[in-house]
Amino acid sequence: MVPPTLVDYDSACRHWSWETERASLAGLPLGRGLNIAHEAVDRHVTDGHGDRLAFVFLSRSAARRAITYSQLAALSNRVAGALVRLGVQPGDRVFTLMDRRLELYITALGTLKAGATYSALFSSFGPEPIRARLEIGKARVLVTTPSLYFRKVKSIRDALPRLEQVILVTDPVSGEPHNELPDHALSFASIIEAAPESFEIPPTDPQSPALLHFTSGTTGTPKGALHVHEAAVVHRATGHLALDLRPEDVYWCTADPGWVTGISYGLVAPLIVGATAIVDREDFEAERWYDILSSEAVNVWYTAPTAIRMLRRSGPGPAGKRHFPQLRHIASVGEPLDPESVRWGIETFGLPVHDTWWQTETGGIMIANFRATDNVPGSMGRPFPGIEAAVVRRRGRSLEIVDASEQAGELALRSGWPSMFRTYVGAPSRYRECFADGWYLSGDLVRRDENGCYWFVGRVDDAIQSAGHLVGPFEVERVMMEHPAVADVVAFGKPDPIAYEIVAACVVLKTGYEAVDTVRLELLAHGRRRLGPAVAPREITFLPELPKTPSGKTLRRLLRHSDS
Ligand code: WT7
Repeated sequence: MVPPTLVDYDSACRHWSWETERASLAGLPLGRGLNIAHEAVDRHVTDGHGDRLAFVFLSRSAARRAITYSQLAALSNRVAGALVRLGVQPGDRVFTLMDRRLELYITALGTLKAGATYSALFSSFGPEPIRARLEIGKARVLVTTPSLYFRKVKSIRDALPRLEQVILVTDPVSGEPHNELPDHALSFASIIEAAPESFEIPPTDPQSPALLHFTSGTTGTPKGALHVHEAAVVHRATGHLALDLRPEDVYWCTADPGWVTGISYGLVAPLIVGATAIVDREDFEAERWYDILSSEAVNVWYTAPTAIRMLRRSGPGPAGKRHFPQLRHIASVGEPLDPESVRWGIETFGLPVHDTWWQTETGGIMIANFRATDNVPGSMGRPFPGIEAAVVRRRGRSLEIVDASEQAGELALRSGWPSMFRTYVGAPSRYRECFADGWYLSGDLVRRDENGCYWFVGRVDDAIQSAGHLVGPFEVERVMMEHPAVADVVAFGKPDPIAYEIVAACVVLKTGYEAVDTVRLELLAHGRRRLGPAVAPREITFLPELPKTPSGKTLRRLLRHSDS
C-alpha cells in the first residue's frame, strides 16, 4: 500500500509555510515570475518528463486519445501564439463555451501562457447566463463550437460590443464545414495551424490575473471571482496533500471545467503535480463510470456527492462486475456528503469517500478529510495546513469568534492564502463585503467539534445547491419574470435525495392565465430555453400570492420546506 502523502497532519500544520510551498514551484526561467501554464506543462518537459501522459480523452464517438506533456506544450504554445497574433494582451479575457474536449484545455493553457485571463462557460448554460457572464467579464475572445454558437451566442452577439473575436472549433466528426463560418468568426484549426509550435511566455507577475470563475449569490448578477497565477501554490499543495496525488498517478476529476472544480482540480492541480488526468466527454452513466475507474486504472478519483448518490441508486451490480485494485483515494466536493455515501465507498471500493470543502472564492481546497487522519462520516474534515479557520458571528462591522462546539456560526478563513480571489470583477464593493477584521466570510454555516472537524450546517443566504453547483435564485427569477404569464416568482432549492437540492419555483400568474399544466409546461420550457437545464427550474408550483416579509422579501425558507 502506498503511504499517504500527508503522514502527520499536526506536524504539517505547525511547520507550514506558504513561502516554502512557493519555492517548490519552478517559476519562469531567469526569474521572470510565475505562470500557471508553465508550472502545469512546460516545466515537466524541461524536467525530462515530456513523454508522460498529461491527458486521456474519452468519448463514445471518437477513439481514446492520449496527449503527452510535450504535445500539450506544443498545442498550448500554438494557441498562445495565435491569441497574441489576434492582438490579445495581458489583462484581456478569453472565454470558452464548449464541452469537455482537448480544445478547451489547450485554450485555457494557451490563454494563460499569453498572459491573458481565462474563463470557462458551462456548455449547458442558455443564452442569458452566457450573455451575463461575457458582459460582466468583458470578454474579448470567445472560443466555442458552431452548434453552440448558433444555439446560444448568435442571438446575444449584438448585445456584446466588447466581444471582438469568436473562434469556432469545427468538429471533423460532425462534418461541420471549415469555410462557411458565420459572422466573421475565425476557425480554431486554421489559426493554430498558422501559429508556431514554440512560444515564450512573457514575464508574469505572480499577482497578475489568471482565472475568472463565476459563481452565484442569492441576489444580484453572477459574481466573477478573479484568481491570480500564485493560486498555483495552493493547487499544487492541495492536489498533492489533500487529494494524495503523485506524478505517477492516473487521476479522474469528474467535474465539468465550466465550474471551478473542473479547472482547479480537473486541469491545474493534476498537471502541476505531473499526473495523468482522465477527461470523459460523456454525461453520467453508472456502468460507464465504473468502467472508466476500472479500465483506466484510476488511482485517485475526485467527484461530487450527487454523482455518488446516482451511483448508489444504480445498485451494487455494475461495481460488483469490475475490479479496482489501483484505486487509492476517493474525495468529493460541492455539497454535503452524507455518511451513507462515505460508507458506500468502503463497501464498493474498500475506501471511504473523503469530503473536502471549498468555494469558487477560495480557489482551492480549504478543509478536508485527509487519507492519514480519521475520516468522520458526515464531517468536512479539518483545515488544510496553512489555513486558519474560525466560526464567527457578524456583529455590525466586526466579528465575534464563537465557541463552535456549542453553536453554529459562519465559517471564516484568515485572509491571505495564495489562491484567495482578488476581486469580483466589476463589483469591488461586493468583494469588500466578504471581509471583516482580516477574515474572509464564506457565507456557510458550520459547527466545529472537539477534534477540530468542521460540520456543514447550511448557507447563510439562500443560494441553491443543486448537483454540486450554486444557482442564484435571482438569476432564475429574472428570466422567469420575462414570460408574459408571470406576475411574480420565487426560486428556491427544494430538498432532493439525489441532487441535494433541485431548482424549484413558485409562480403567481397574471390575470387571464389559468393555473393549468399547459402553462406550467410552457414556463418550464421557457426556463430551459433561456437558462439551460443546469439552472432552469425543474418544478413549478402556482400560488395565488407569495409569502413575504413585511419588508417585501419573499420567505424562501417557508417555500423550501412546504410540500409544494
Ligand atoms: C459552496 C461553494 C468548490 C467546489 C464546488 C462548488 C458548498 C462545497 C461542500 C461540502 C457542504 C459544500 C458550500 C460552499 N459546498 N463543498 N464539502 N459540504 N457544502 O463551488 O459553486 O463556489 O460553491 O458549495 O455551500 O459555500 P461553489
